[in-house]
Amino acid sequence: MKYLILSDIHSNKEALTAVLSFVRRKPWDKCVFLGDLVGYGANPNQTVDMVRALKPLVAIRGNHDKVCSGIEEGELFNRMALEAALWTRRKLTKSNLHWLKKLPEGPTMVDDTFAICHGTPVDEDAYIFGEIEALNVFRHTEFPVTFFGHSHFPVIFALSPDAITTILTVAPSFRFKLRPGVRYLVNPGSVGQPRDGNPLASFAMFDSETRMVSIHRIPYQVKATQQKILKAGLPRPLADRLAIGR
Ligand SMILES: [Fe+2]
Repeated sequence: MKYLILSDIHSNKEALTAVLSFVRRKPWDKCVFLGDLVGYGANPNQTVDMVRALKPLVAIRGNHDKVCSGIEEGELFNRMALEAALWTRRKLTKSNLHWLKKLPEGPTMVDDTFAICHGTPVDEDAYIFGEIEALNVFRHTEFPVTFFGHSHFPVIFALSPDAITTILTVAPSFRFKLRPGVRYLVNPGSVGQPRDGNPLASFAMFDSETRMVSIHRIPYQVKATQQKILKAGLPRPLADRLAIGR
């Protein structure tokens, strides 16, 4: 089975469009979404519509989906994230708001093959930035392979019997074969707001038969996205950061 793995789209229609047009040449069987479909960007309804149309789809919620749909009030959000979330809540159609509200909490298993979560399988709102957090997650879970999002940073953590290793991905196309007997935490990076210093949209594909993970970086119309953010009256840093991938 070939999986298309998307995370942290954040209402960025141009980035999602570029990713979907790229994968037209790379057939997939199932789309898996790791949360944060909305928040930050100016096209919440368009991106929700686009993801809802991807079938078959397994999707879980992210922290921004919770605040944008009104499940939570965003007490822990910074000022800009909260402003964008409340703007998004006002803009979402009834149907899209309802659909976001119904997104399940991770972790969940996909086809008994791998687990998915937003932040970590232990806490959907917690971050895995480095090996300490990764090791902690490995200790408290038993999933052999977990795909996670939330940090907007494409990376693979591997736990073998004697060591934990960080595998940094190399743009624009990175391929890595998962080895037997090693446990993995894989972050496909963020489609709509990368934060690894590379502004290109990031996503993954996973072939469960060959156990090959590929992480791709795709250019998109960053300027058009920035202009929409400014035109919507959203905070300027949300537009600026897209150009530098921070
Ligand atoms: Fe996010």
